[in-house]
Amino acid sequence: MSKDIVIIGNWKMNKTPEEAEAFIGKLNLLYAENKAKILENVKFGIGAPAVDLAPIKKTNEIEGLIIAAQNMHEKESGAFTGELSSKIIKGAGANAVILGHSERRAMFNETSESVAAKARVAIENGLLPIIAFGETLEEYEAKKTKRVVKKMVQESTRGVDLSKVVLAYEPIWAIGTGKTASAKDAQNVCKYVRSITDENVVIQYGGSVKPENIAELMSQPDIDGALVGGASLDATSFIKLLTMNK
Ligand code: PGA
Repeated sequence: MSKDIVIIGNWKMNKTPEEAEAFIGKLNLLYAENKAKILENVKFGIGAPAVDLAPIKKTNEIEGLIIAAQNMHEKESGAFTGELSSKIIKGAGANAVILGHSERRAMFNETSESVAAKARVAIENGLLPIIAFGETLEEYEAKKTKRVVKKMVQESTRGVDLSKVVLAYEPIWAIGTGKTASAKDAQNVCKYVRSITDENVVIQYGGSVKPENIAELMSQPDIDGALVGGASLDATSFIKLLTMNK
């Protein structure tokens, strides 16, 4: 049996609820048309702004669609103005949550410790955490990738059941830049991550993944999926990711 390939679109701060509904409406149709071209082991979903979760859930007709929030708070409830708990995002329609994206780590002071705490709570509440990590350009150029990634992965998954998460290796220098890590380099890091975590853990690659390069990336033995920003915003492009551009 072939292993699962998990492809998640990360919309970041894009799409109003109305635009989210329009996207999912189109995706329903495109999925039905292209289903025969999508391998059975391909699982997929969208990481959306929190207010888009309920409209996505309502509009979706695709069985098994992963609906992910892009952050959550580790407390169940309380005086945390502006925050959302796992129960709140789940109630809105999420079955997954992206945690520790580099933009949240860099701009909103997200730490690996808080990512691990959130992941543990997400799992307790039946959500799939997608835990992101990756090195900066400076660290990459100084050949510190493995050292940096090891620390981030170990700290971000402390006390976390690895059979219930997706890991997402995203070199920061490849995000939104059009520069993709070569399939060989991405494979090397993902293989290393597997060696320090669990043989069966799902490991995605992210960073300028698009229809033109997804097949080569997914053919690597240790890359089990993709976290895709820019190329996930358009439904036609998103479907091409799922068909591996066929
Ligand atoms: P990108 O973003 O595909 O636009 O490079 C990936 C991500 O940040 O998850």
